[in-house]
Amino acid sequence: MDPSLTTLFDLTGKTALITGASSGIGVGLARGLAKAGANVVVTARRQEMIDQTATMVREFGGRSDAWTCDITDEPRFEALFDRIVTEYGRLDILVNNAGFTDRTALRHDQNSMKRFRSIVELDLLATMNGCRLAARQMLQQQPAGGVIINISSILGATASEFRASAYHAAKAGVDGLTRVLAYEYAREGIRVNGIAPSYFEGTEMMDKVFDAAPVTKAHTIERTPMGRLGRPEDLEGAIVFLCSDAGRFVTGHTLYVDGGWTTGGGFHQKPALWESELGRQDPNWGK
Ligand SMILES: NC(=O)c1ccc[n+]([C@@H]2O[C@H](COP(=O)([O-])OP(=O)(O)OC[C@H]3O[C@@H](n4cnc5c(N)ncnc54)[C@H](OP(=O)(O)O)[C@@H]3O)[C@@H](O)[C@H]2O)c1
Repeated sequence: MDPSLTTLFDLTGKTALITGASSGIGVGLARGLAKAGANVVVTARRQEMIDQTATMVREFGGRSDAWTCDITDEPRFEALFDRIVTEYGRLDILVNNAGFTDRTALRHDQNSMKRFRSIVELDLLATMNGCRLAARQMLQQQPAGGVIINISSILGATASEFRASAYHAAKAGVDGLTRVLAYEYAREGIRVNGIAPSYFEGTEMMDKVFDAAPVTKAHTIERTPMGRLGRPEDLEGAIVFLCSDAGRFVTGHTLYVDGGWTTGGGFHQKPALWESELGRQDPNWGK
């Protein structure tokens, strides 16, 4: 391979912050950035688990610190950015990954405003705040600029049977935020992109759902065109591409890493109903 191509994906010396890096997708994203040479500050609420992620990052040669933070606590989230700038000198990459979904399976009208608020607060508002705090820093550092990645979901763009309306709405909001901030900062050297995974296993959020509902798991696999669930390691290439020079002219884009799910709303593997209708398999039908 020509060395110039390797250079294009190189993140050596860059400082990244990943929220929700104690489990699942956040760990996969941290591994991707670490493999590309970045220094990665990892945060979530559970110290022991982010310690493990930081150890993994250091094994790839980068610097890493594990600093706990409930990112819905605004002063604490802001203090985390200050600490990174004090100790690392700048912030090049922010990955807004922390999030959760509603597992109550309650229909929208049966759910509570309290529940809606808690989902929107983490999945949308904390992401908005992360973008705000990162952009402030990225605009003032020298040289200015950076990359923001918002972790969305296929559910930001599609409906589902999961009865998780607040999650769908929050992720659609994240997609809108990604677009508008990309536009606002396009001339300031800050690129803003999203990654939208489909159903991923190896994460606390979805493993709990699938363990409780094995039939749903089988059904989800069947409906994924590529015939399997995603795994956190499937995101390593996407995050490195979007954060590195390889993606330098890409902004405002949400990249679907979904085994083909959004190409047709997740119904690809189900035989079309009309196939079972009498006569439809007859090559002379309709002639
Ligand atoms: N798994 C999927 O199929 C899937 C699909 C599409 C999109 N996503 C998105 O991917 C992201 C990661 O989810 P995941 O599937 O990897 O689930 P996960 O394993 O449950 O990870 C969620 C992460 O968010 C952290 N977190 C939760 N509340 C927090 C808070 N208030 N402050 C700071 N950190 C908090 C959790 O750590 P602590 O509990 O230690 O704080 C954990 O590290 C989410 O945005 C999710 O919506 C997941």
